[in-house]
Amino acid sequence: MLGSALYRLAPAHVSPDPVGHYELDVASEASVRAAITEREPDAVIHCAAWTAVDACEKDVERAFRVNADGPKFLARETAKRGIRLVHISTDFVFDGVKRTPYVESDATDPLSVYGRSKQAGEENVIRSHPGALIVRTSWTFGREGDGDFVRSILSAVRNGTKLRVVTDQVGSPTYVDDLAEAIYALLPTEETGVFHVANTGETDRYHFARAVLDGSGYPNVPIDAIKAAELKLPAPRPAYSTLGSERLPISSLAALRDWRSALHARLTAGPAGGREY
Ligand SMILES: NC(=O)c1ccc[n+]([C@@H]2O[C@H](COP(=O)([O-])OP(=O)(O)OC[C@H]3O[C@@H](n4cnc5c(N)ncnc54)[C@H](OP(=O)(O)O)[C@@H]3O)[C@@H](O)[C@H]2O)c1
Repeated sequence: MLGSALYRLAPAHVSPDPVGHYELDVASEASVRAAITEREPDAVIHCAAWTAVDACEKDVERAFRVNADGPKFLARETAKRGIRLVHISTDFVFDGVKRTPYVESDATDPLSVYGRSKQAGEENVIRSHPGALIVRTSWTFGREGDGDFVRSILSAVRNGTKLRVVTDQVGSPTYVDDLAEAIYALLPTEETGVFHVANTGETDRYHFARAVLDGSGYPNVPIDAIKAAELKLPAPRPAYSTLGSERLPISSLAALRDWRSALHARLTAGPAGGREY
């Protein structure tokens, strides 16, 4: 989802060379080395991850291979060649006990295998490539891909599936188009280390779903408000994971717009068209 948005939104001075899973296995050091040797990029924006949060609980080894070893191989290879690296991470590195937005200096303490594997990925990047940028984001929705929350809610309505959405998870929904533009603004800077980039404002999943339906012409479709425990999902999620930033704004990048106006932009944007990666 994010990779396709980065491809579509590349500024004129950037020649994006997207690399899909079918061309590169980030969990293989040899595959990473071959891809970088062949392409000789000026920068790498590492969007690949095993993002199936519940499946990660059942295959810890795969989660760490993709989400922790993958970034390590990329960081080593890019550091060795002096290539700028942007690595993408997640709000799921936090435990969710705070009730004010998590900032970059807050301690991480993930609840799930996915969160732990992403935390290990961050640590590997910092260790292997001190000049890298780690962009943590949250609750992403976009125009490409097939697994985001907005698309899942709209598919459920169109299929006549009864909607049940939790009220006890709060976060910052983030439009990947806004995130992609922020990444392109950060890319040429000297900034390193962890950056939180998310649309501003916060909501719970139930009200996020409500906003999706209201903004899509389904104001009368009901949603059952439930608690997360009722879903009995394998992976625990943070109850609160709103991202704030103590590093933004910087000269090249202001705080992102409110999630409601970003959602409106997504719902009125129409299909992305073009090629998905
Ligand atoms: N989605 C969210 O709510 C969210 C929130 C915070 C942070 N993030 C982070 O944002 C980044 C982008 O996520 P996204 O939402 O764009 O996820 P996505 O749509 O699931 O894309 C992840 C991509 O990684 C690829 N991939 C998986 N394993 C790979 C491997 N071993 N080698 C190469 N490619 C591999 C996947 O290909 P296949 O489909 O072929 O496996 C897929 O194209 C990730 O780092 C994610 O952790 C996501």
